[in-house]
Amino acid sequence: MSTHRIAILPGDGIGPETVAEAVRVLEAAGEVHGFAYEVTTLPFGGAAIDATGEPLPAETRAGVRAADAVLKGAIGGPRWDASPVRPEQGLLDLRTALGVFANVRPIRRWTRLTSSPLRPELAEGIDMVIVRELTGGLYFGAKELGPDRAFDTCIYTRGEIERVARRAFEMAQGRRGRVCSVDKANVLDSSKLWRRVVAEVAADYPDVELTHQLVDSMAMKLVDQPAAYDVVVTENMFGDILSDLAAAVGGGIGLAPSSSLGAGRPGLYEAIHGSAPDIAGTGRANPAATILSLAMLLHDLGETAAAASIEQAVTITLDAGPVTPDLGGDATTQELGSAIARAVATTPHEVLR
Ligand code: NAD
Ligand code: IPM
Ligand code: MN
Repeated sequence: MSTHRIAILPGDGIGPETVAEAVRVLEAAGEVHGFAYEVTTLPFGGAAIDATGEPLPAETRAGVRAADAVLKGAIGGPRWDASPVRPEQGLLDLRTALGVFANVRPIRRWTRLTSSPLRPELAEGIDMVIVRELTGGLYFGAKELGPDRAFDTCIYTRGEIERVARRAFEMAQGRRGRVCSVDKANVLDSSKLWRRVVAEVAADYPDVELTHQLVDSMAMKLVDQPAAYDVVVTENMFGDILSDLAAAVGGGIGLAPSSSLGAGRPGLYEAIHGSAPDIAGTGRANPAATILSLAMLLHDLGETAAAASIEQAVTITLDAGPVTPDLGGDATTQELGSAIARAVATTPHEVLR
């Protein structure tokens, strides 16, 4: 049996607080499911800027490359607003360095709690995966900031669109067989190419139904009828915005995990939320999104029973309460993390769904 090498990047704000709870759950899962792992903790983001002047120091770059998987806490915060290099730049560099072009963001009802702001009949049955292109588009095009004029450019190549589209279609084949591609093809040339290439790729997946939706009306539909969606594929910036919206609709941003995958290993696993400077240090952060990201990580390393038991433990624990303040409870980050770790250690391992 091989030892899984897991790199851990705690990050900033609530990043280290939520990652500590995921490590607690990893320890419980390792014990119960009998897999071997070793953890290497590496500086990243604002904390790394403070320590070394760079958000992605050479040590961290080498450390993640040597790992089988990377678990990352959120980075950033007002403290680095005036910094010559921002923590967020480190995150873009990390995604590029790992070549993780497909960001998989599942949105599910993890709990029976009525934590969605929608009427229960609208929130019922939400189960979608947003596949967000992660290493192209506006985030990475030529840009310039002058005193009176600034620009960013959105460039996509056929190859960049095709590889992420294939991931979305493959995912749909293992789910309900539907892909909705989101773009702004009524205005943007990059979106016109996006739509054309996604439609061409669809021909290789005749068992999957493809629809196209413009991004503005998609924002409306995600609120109106979120349960209608299976796999949603879209470019970097649209995916960033729509996934926060979908997470809120699905029950809260504290419950939304993600994996970022390229052609090989390592994958990058992180909650979709940020460092939440408004609650950092108060013990109010919900660790579930990071713990669910750990479940995705273990699943991809082949530890499928451990992954399923963590997901089950999250559901059981949230349903039973107490939960963190974002979900209406008064539990602390540590109390919820410990309760989930205990549930991993003690509940039977049948899979819930
Ligand atoms: P945010 O996601 O940090 O916070 C938005 C709101 O959601 C806040 O009210 C916050 O308290 C709440 N929230 C977020 N996560 C929560 C959790 N786990 N439990 C309970 N409540 C939670 O977004 P923001 O305020 O726009 O960004 C703050 C910083 O985070 C910025 O510097 C941004 O660049 C960074 N950020 C980093 C990542 C990342 O590392 N992947 C992702 C998003 C934002
Ligand atoms: C996310 C974040 C990042 C993004 C920022 C911090 C660069 O919002 O992971 O969703 O926009 O990709
Ligand atoms: Mn985001």
